[in-house]
Amino acid sequence: MGAITAAAPRLGVMGWPVAHSLSPIMQNAALQALGLPWTYDLLPVPPPDLAAAVQALRANKYVGANVTVPHKQAIIPHLDGLTPAARAIGAVNTLFWDMPPADAHPAAPIGALSEDDVESKHLFGDNTDGIGFIADLTAHGLVVASRRVLVIGGGGAARAVVYALAAAGASVTIVNRTLAHAQTIATLVSSHFPAATLSCAVFPDGLAAAAGADLVVNTTSVGMWPAVEAMPWDADLAFRPDQVVYDLVYTPRMTALLRKAQMDGAAVMDGLGMLVEQGAAALTRWTGRPAPVAVMRAAVETALAQRHLSNDR
Ligand code: ATR
Repeated sequence: MGAITAAAPRLGVMGWPVAHSLSPIMQNAALQALGLPWTYDLLPVPPPDLAAAVQALRANKYVGANVTVPHKQAIIPHLDGLTPAARAIGAVNTLFWDMPPADAHPAAPIGALSEDDVESKHLFGDNTDGIGFIADLTAHGLVVASRRVLVIGGGGAARAVVYALAAAGASVTIVNRTLAHAQTIATLVSSHFPAATLSCAVFPDGLAAAAGADLVVNTTSVGMWPAVEAMPWDADLAFRPDQVVYDLVYTPRMTALLRKAQMDGAAVMDGLGMLVEQGAAALTRWTGRPAPVAVMRAAVETALAQRHLSNDR
């Protein structure tokens, strides 16, 4: 770390606990590939310290940051503005200054902010989770417009995914344990996309609606390490070979749900792609440059494989 000077533009991820975040590994690999002498650090912020942490971010002139649990909603009152996606989803995962596009200032890249720049700019919150999800589908050649999608879950991740699917023109059925949570998402997303086709059903009975779906997405944490045998699915319900099953979980990458889907002949996608793409979208916000997605993916894959070997996920 000796080469880092006081002037090196800073980025980081705020969370609590945050030690297991893969973002520093992923973003530092990307910054290096872009040839930017920026740093991206873990920013452990206990909930009572959130306001002070945002102040410190402003005072220390961070060029941007990621925000993760438990601060994604709590940070909103501390910001100067939100993007339409963050406002609709009600959660923020990326902070940025409302700078003009980098190509408007070829001599002054976004990272090289002067004090005046930062003081005259506003700290905005964005949510790149939904964009990241769609970007991963697109990278795999999947187009969701006019497709039928069953989304399992009704938490924050479901909000981002349903918002993005509706924006992309998909018909969505939300199946959640607490029906009211699914209905809240449907109402909210409908208010932004009145033409969207959205329906809700209760988990697990509503899973039967998957028979009419092209894509099934798990947004719950069921199946995440260490309870890896759990599956937000009914073992008696078979997937079809023409279906795609997407699990937002990436620890492990091959969840019990994806194993079952694969055995039934369906195509499967794990949560690593969305993790990488949401980070790529954030990086582009900060740098104004296309993100080196392959480099970011390789860095995360290596880190996850090492954790797997050490059984430390
Ligand atoms: P986040 O808000 O970060 O997406 P969460 O609060 O853990 O994550 O909740 C995600 C979703 O997983 C919730 O909708 C939750 O259902 P409820 O709305 O009924 O709380 C769902 N979920 C969590 N555990 C579940 C389980 N064992 N079976 C079915 N659904 C579950």
